[in-house]
Amino acid sequence: MGRFNIPLFKLNYDKNEENAVLRTMKSQWISSGPKVNKLEKKFSEIIGTRYSLATSNCTSSLHLAVLTAGIKYGDEVLCPSLTFVATVNSILYVGAVPVFCDIKSESELTISPDDIERKITSKTKAIIVMHYAGFPCDMKRIMKISRKYKLKVIEDACHAPLSEYQGRKLGTFGVSSCYSFYSNKNISTGEGGMFNTNIKQYFQQAKLLRSHGISTTSFDRLKDSKDYNVLGAGYNYRMDDLRASIALVQLEKLKMDIYRRAKVRKLYLKYLTNINSVKIPFVNYDGNYSNYIFPILVQNRDQVRKYLLKKGIQTSIHYKPVHRLSTYEKYYLELPLTDLVYSKLLTLPMYGSLKLVEIKYIVNSLAEIVK
Ligand SMILES: Cc1ncc(COP(=O)(O)O)c(C=O)c1O
Repeated sequence: MGRFNIPLFKLNYDKNEENAVLRTMKSQWISSGPKVNKLEKKFSEIIGTRYSLATSNCTSSLHLAVLTAGIKYGDEVLCPSLTFVATVNSILYVGAVPVFCDIKSESELTISPDDIERKITSKTKAIIVMHYAGFPCDMKRIMKISRKYKLKVIEDACHAPLSEYQGRKLGTFGVSSCYSFYSNKNISTGEGGMFNTNIKQYFQQAKLLRSHGISTTSFDRLKDSKDYNVLGAGYNYRMDDLRASIALVQLEKLKMDIYRRAKVRKLYLKYLTNINSVKIPFVNYDGNYSNYIFPILVQNRDQVRKYLLKKGIQTSIHYKPVHRLSTYEKYYLELPLTDLVYSKLLTLPMYGSLKLVEIKYIVNSLAEIVK
């Protein structure tokens, strides 16, 4: 088989995204306006939360989630370490303390409800969960714990658009949830995010904070020339209409993209079962998931990664655990399963247009190095 050049991710773009951007440019309104409004309406419809608020990225959405949940200086927030740093940074932005929890097991890389319960103190105010790779955290147990100890749950659902848990969409369980539209996500707009909630007060507060605390938007003022007031020092966490118009096209494609990713996962599972030394997390999960990434566990991970790169296969690691990064040293806790999994963790290419011949090439290349 000849040399392939297989990236980790391929953008699912065509003429429709280009035309959407052109139409927005020609409309003469490119910053936050009607496209953002339309996107928010559509997003809340498909996820099933009452309110959605488009933002500049998921990091700003997470910040809004922590602020609206009333998390303050000195409060403790339980969170995973096996996540992207933004999950944890959102806790630090308000002076709260991240308390890292371990993952469930080598086959379930999501936050452990047992460890959550062990680490609750009188200062604990919230739990931020992250649905790793689009597979659900144990929401039944986590919501039960949250009710027992009166904790707020925030869902970092960056990996999980349209993923389901017991027939219900992820991102609808907590007091709020956050999505990312970063380039390599299921919905790609370059930069972008979405804050979702069923709580009107959270939505109103987040909307104010998103745009400097100003009581009206520039688009509103265009129509009625009304005066405005500032109701609190907010931020500029807005999305623009150029990106919203891309997101609207991406939303139309989302179901099909996820269907194709599910097929890719099935093929990976089929061919990888022949390699005993490769372990596949979430292997028995059998529902509707976003399949944002495809993680595996292998011995000598760095050597395997180098070999695959030589064969033209791009891989990644999701993630170097946050408690192992120098900025977070102060919050270090022993997380044996997280550390163990990290030492073997490797992300293989995953996108809807990944071909059968490419999947076979990836699996064969993997077999060559691990055997
Ligand atoms: C789990 C997780 N949380 C938060 C983020 C931050 O998203 P953004 O880059 O849109 O700020 C990402 C994206 O990389 C992510 O994967």
